[in-house]
Amino acid sequence: MDISVNTESQRLLTAHRGIPSKAPENTLSGIRLAAQLGARWVELDTQLSKDRIPVVMHDETLDRTTNGSGLLREKTLDELRMLDTGEWYKPEYSGELFPILEEVLEECKKLDLTLNLELKLYPASEPVALVERVIELLQENEFPLDKLLLSSFSREALVRCRELVPQVRRGFISDKADFGLNNVLKEVAPYSIHLDHRILTPEMARDIKGTGTVLAIWTMNEPEKVESFFDMGVDNIITDVIDQFK
Ligand code: G3P
Ligand code: MG
Repeated sequence: MDISVNTESQRLLTAHRGIPSKAPENTLSGIRLAAQLGARWVELDTQLSKDRIPVVMHDETLDRTTNGSGLLREKTLDELRMLDTGEWYKPEYSGELFPILEEVLEECKKLDLTLNLELKLYPASEPVALVERVIELLQENEFPLDKLLLSSFSREALVRCRELVPQVRRGFISDKADFGLNNVLKEVAPYSIHLDHRILTPEMARDIKGTGTVLAIWTMNEPEKVESFFDMGVDNIITDVIDQFK
């Protein structure tokens, strides 16, 4: 059976958190290496420090990816900047500073990367504060909007993005098949929907693509499956191992 629904898939690849198979995730080193190894799009996670500075890290706590511990949102930027975010990964990365969003934006501009910035929210985070601080920074930095996609699992965050900067592309992320496509389209008006690749079926791909919405999947680390996903209509594959997708 031919399950192709869109032969015009954009066939993009995005470097998830940089290139965590080769460099510590969500770091400047990781971004640089991903670009060197061919990435044109990069996905990174941003959260707020205690003093409300947007920084770049995935987890809610510092324990896994730094030499610190405790909740990120309870530390000021000065406290975060004293941590090492590379040593846990490999000794050669020791001394890697906790990245602030401002310097990541600069690096993406320098490397001409398109940035998929995930607004990473945990139950105790404040979606509106994160959105407002990130947007302020993007504006101060004059980050090129055609090189930007703001994504989130949080509808509240994306709705606020829509209100504040309707011209910036929004990506709705979900790991649930029953996320409610029609409501998301109405509330968020997303440019793209980003699904856990394990839940995607040809029918879901057809339904999403049928609405004219771009379809991304994460985190797909099996190069041998790339063609079948693109044939299904997937536009953008977010992967930890972008160097293996040549
Ligand atoms: O943006 C897609 C993906 O990054 C969402 O999951 O947990 O890796 O941020 P996570
Ligand atoms: Mg992410």
